[in-house]
Amino acid sequence: MSELSVNHLLGIKYLKEEDIQLIFETADQFKEVINRPIKKVPSLRDITIANLFFENSTRTKLSFELAEKRLSADVINFSASQSSVKKGETLIDTVNNILSMKVDMVVMRHPNPGAGVFLSKNVSASIVNAGDGAHEHPTQALLDSYSIREKLGDVAGKNVVIVGDILHSRVALSNIFALKLQGANVKVCGPKTLLPKYIESLGVEVETNLRKALEWCDVANMLRVQNERMDISYFPSTREYAQQYGVTKALLDSLDKEIVIMHPGPINRGVEITSDVADSKQSIILNQVENGVAVRMAVIYLLASKIKQ
Ligand code: CP
Repeated sequence: MSELSVNHLLGIKYLKEEDIQLIFETADQFKEVINRPIKKVPSLRDITIANLFFENSTRTKLSFELAEKRLSADVINFSASQSSVKKGETLIDTVNNILSMKVDMVVMRHPNPGAGVFLSKNVSASIVNAGDGAHEHPTQALLDSYSIREKLGDVAGKNVVIVGDILHSRVALSNIFALKLQGANVKVCGPKTLLPKYIESLGVEVETNLRKALEWCDVANMLRVQNERMDISYFPSTREYAQQYGVTKALLDSLDKEIVIMHPGPINRGVEITSDVADSKQSIILNQVENGVAVRMAVIYLLASKIKQ
């Protein structure tokens, strides 16, 4: 396979396994590039990309911008809080105004699930979903799988547990789709109130006991409790949550094997993981961030190749 089967990256659920392998093989080449003294290639000198962030971001926003600049694309950045969205302009009007400045690709983070799909049907640019509400975060799932492949050699056959607030997490859903597509075994673990009722229909198992989940897995992907998406209380207190679902060094050391710890960030230290776990040699959290640039370069490069045709 030499090109993606899609013209937009809206979610992992629209990808084939071959798309993921093509993205990873392309990311391998870009990872080599970004470790050279000159970290830039001229591949996208004729492409202009707009980064539209309607929700806060640190890692994803900076990672996309760096990926685009490493590919020599022209880049414009838009932040909703400083824009005419505040004056009542619609999403389509905003994007069409930006596109009339000859923009080829839009990377968008938006609080509404399906915002990227909606945009792809209404404007003439390639759309990359950088996180849409509690729906999907496809580049996060790609960089997570890429990091597992780098650390353990392969994703197929590995036991991966996703721990925490599954209900409000776009990272969980995209990871489940990506991991299942590549042949990993997936469990989710958390308080029952934070596990969606439909979750087993996605082919994952539920384990509410954290110790049992950790004893089973090769990789634990620890998620943050998304307080900003909660309008009611889902567990008695943060302290009780940390006691039942937080990973400590003592818990890791009591297992009879060394598991890999991942986290998409931002971390709430002392809640889902303690600092000594986040900073331990079992943690690949900063490798995930590093790999995010190479994976996003691959996604943008492959989608731009389709625009140029
Ligand atoms: N992982 C992630 O999406 O982080 P940001 O919200 O900082 O982009």
